[in-house]
Amino acid sequence: MGHELEQYRQVVRDEWTSADTVAAWARWHPKIAAQQVNMREALIQHARLEPGMRVLDLACGTGDPALEIARMIGPHGRVTATDLSPQMLENAERTRLRRESPTWTSSQWMPRICSSVGRALIV
Ligand SMILES: C[S@@+](CC[C@H](N)C(=O)[O-])C[C@H]1O[C@@H](n2cnc3c(N)ncnc32)[C@H](O)[C@@H]1O
Repeated sequence: MGHELEQYRQVVRDEWTSADTVAAWARWHPKIAAQQVNMREALIQHARLEPGMRVLDLACGTGDPALEIARMIGPHGRVTATDLSPQMLENAERTRLRRESPTWTSSQWMPRICSSVGRALIV
């Protein structure tokens, strides 16, 4: 089981760090983001976000909905966005700059922050 699990992890890592996958997500991100607008709104509503909260977005990919949340929780809040793929995080940062979204924290590996956030979400 341990070996199979490690093999599976490697497949996931290879998939999400491959140049083709990263380029495809960068290319299609605007369309995907537009298609998912209703789902994001529902998710954000359920999360009952409030200004000043600390929010963790696991596996943030190209940055949605983390960037939207950063705007909603305001300058005293903090979004920490994590993803296993450094290339996807680079795409997310490019999206952030393009949208002029507030600063956030992004991290490739899951830091020890679970106990310090008010909401955690994964899409
Ligand atoms: C569907 S994509 C993007 C999701 C993003 N929230 C969105 O809606 O655009 C999924 C992301 O999950 C990341 N991912 C997959 N498995 C992961 C894991 N075990 N830990 C961290 N990130 C992971 C991938 O690198 C990829 O960027």
